[in-house]
Amino acid sequence: MAVIIDGKAISEQIRGELAAGVAAMKQNGTTPGLAVVLVGEDPASQVYVRNKIRACEQLGIHSEDHRLPADTTEGELLALVRELNRREDIHGILVQLPLPRQIRERAVIEAIAPEKDVDAFHAQNVGQIVQGQYDFLPCTPAGVLELIRRSGIPVEGKDCVVVGRSNIVGKPMAMLMLHENATVTICHSRTRDLSAVTRRADILIVAIGRAKFITADMVKEGAVVIDVGMDRDENGKLCGDVDFAAVEPKAGYITPVPGGVGPMTITMLMKNTVTAARLAGGRR
Ligand code: GUN
Repeated sequence: MAVIIDGKAISEQIRGELAAGVAAMKQNGTTPGLAVVLVGEDPASQVYVRNKIRACEQLGIHSEDHRLPADTTEGELLALVRELNRREDIHGILVQLPLPRQIRERAVIEAIAPEKDVDAFHAQNVGQIVQGQYDFLPCTPAGVLELIRRSGIPVEGKDCVVVGRSNIVGKPMAMLMLHENATVTICHSRTRDLSAVTRRADILIVAIGRAKFITADMVKEGAVVIDVGMDRDENGKLCGDVDFAAVEPKAGYITPVPGGVGPMTITMLMKNTVTAARLAGGRR
């Protein structure tokens, strides 16, 4: 029987701490501001954006919801990003991904001022993370690390296996665990004998986007299992990359879907926005 890591409860705790920080900043005359930009009508993105705006409202952070049509050109989006870069009342800029095909994601990400890049996707921020000196961490990996820390799970010297190598989750996640002194392995779709690798993991972090892909035989007895997946099962029900019912009895700790990593991602976005506002205050 695993300890179930309650991402919702840990998230609420952190949001309480952040709300206190925001209130103090407001007393000193600064309201943190986040601009969220959504191009097109992807239903999942619409839900994520709505949740981000709602979290801002809950914490007293100023938010702006910029919705652009699906046929927006790259030039139009870049013009909006540059305008938001110039605004003093906007400390964080988040352009929801994926973007429509006519827009190059990299061009847009690199146009965001690095000090407003609350996703930490800009090459400058990525480079700083690799070097271990950074102001922002990408929201999902930061949320995973916070879940591990606040659950009192030691990381140093542990075998950590990350399944998935995306720029948003897998790669930065591996780097963070390395900074925490884990021995880190990154697996992906071409990995040979994946289960032999995952079975060595003391800490297994899965971000591949395939419903219930990780089965009990792929997990070591007592392992910490962190599920970043947001998938649909054969009945259309929300589930993760881990077969929770099968793996939970074998794991030491496990995150559920929903209610695990998901709430933490948005909480870390709020944290980055507050950090961006604080740093902007220091530069004035
Ligand atoms: N799409 C899926 N995850 C993310 C994220 O963390 N940030 C942005 N901007 N878009 C996403």
